[in-house]
Amino acid sequence: MYSIAVVGATGLVGSTMLELLEKRNIPIKKLTLFSSARSAGKEIVFKGQTYIVEELTESKTQGPYDYVLMSAGGETSLRFSPLFEQHGSVVIDNSSAWRMDPEISLVVPEVNPPSLSRKIIANPNCSTIQSVGPLNILADAFGLKRVAYTTYQSVSGSGWKGIEDLKRGERGEEPVNYPHPIYNNVLPHIDVFQEDGYTKEEVKMIEETRKILQLPSLPVTATCVRVPVTSAHSVAINVTLEKETTSEEIKALFNKNPNVILEDDPKQNIYPMPVNAGGKEGIFVGRIRKDDSFPNTFHVWTVSDNILKGAALNAVQILEQLINGKEQY
Ligand SMILES: NC(=O)c1ccc[n+]([C@@H]2O[C@H](COP(=O)([O-])OP(=O)(O)OC[C@H]3O[C@@H](n4cnc5c(N)ncnc54)[C@H](OP(=O)(O)O)[C@@H]3O)[C@@H](O)[C@H]2O)c1
Repeated sequence: MYSIAVVGATGLVGSTMLELLEKRNIPIKKLTLFSSARSAGKEIVFKGQTYIVEELTESKTQGPYDYVLMSAGGETSLRFSPLFEQHGSVVIDNSSAWRMDPEISLVVPEVNPPSLSRKIIANPNCSTIQSVGPLNILADAFGLKRVAYTTYQSVSGSGWKGIEDLKRGERGEEPVNYPHPIYNNVLPHIDVFQEDGYTKEEVKMIEETRKILQLPSLPVTATCVRVPVTSAHSVAINVTLEKETTSEEIKALFNKNPNVILEDDPKQNIYPMPVNAGGKEGIFVGRIRKDDSFPNTFHVWTVSDNILKGAALNAVQILEQLINGKEQY
């Protein structure tokens, strides 16, 4: 039985982590729920018991907690994760704060196991998780030469404030979170722009893909786009492989791999879509076809719930791996 703290328990990701801890029957002897001062005092029911959410402060990092599931943004993580770590807790963090730190492992459990050289483990970016799942299968079978992503990311990727902006647009009101309306629109802009014209979201996808797949010089590029969908991100992946293969062979490989769900029957209009993937735990793949514009190149369309596999579920799967002693030292 473990003592577990959830930081950001009132957020979209945090509340979903709580649902998963309950559903997957994680053995918990003590649960502590943290938020900022805004939600302190709020009541949350977990396994029939009511918990009062507390404001996270430095003194409360002492715990003791075996595991801290952190889902409260980069600044909060940078401030509090090292303190939890100093007091002996293992932190699984959903923000981007630690992901590219060479000492920190960035984990998708079915792709790369967690390492505990530091007691902070980073959960990757949501669009990256659903992309490296299928890419890892292709890498093992054929090797990767180049990857180009175009994403179609739902508003829940921005937490509650993204969902509220879509609702504001539906009511004819101005956006508060995004720089332009998201209702009836698409925004080729996620996170902040850098000097080179790429957004930080695009850089995250590029760098995190290389780190998770352990291919530091893999050519990767990305265009990340926000779309007026509530739940589940879609990613169009254009991938060039080292070894020759066919669309049929790729479909057969995906079909027998438990880490992805193949939905690919264009004649019956069957392909992955956010309306079907939202609320489900898997990574859905389809529209597999050869790109005849370049040798050995294929299109793969992937859809997954960004709050589940893209965030909360992946974090809880990391926790399960740690509990089951599957980390590498
Ligand atoms: N949404 C996604 O698809 C997704 C995917 C991958 C990763 N993530 C990451 O997960 C994290 C949470 O995202 P979200 O979508 O759940 O956002 P959210 O719905 O806005 O929730 C944010 C949570 O963080 C808490 N928080 C904020 N400042 C805090 C502080 N100083 N101390 C303690 N708690 C604090 C908030 O508490 P209050 O209720 O008090 O404000 C709330 O519980 C972010 O780092 C995000 O980048 C999100």
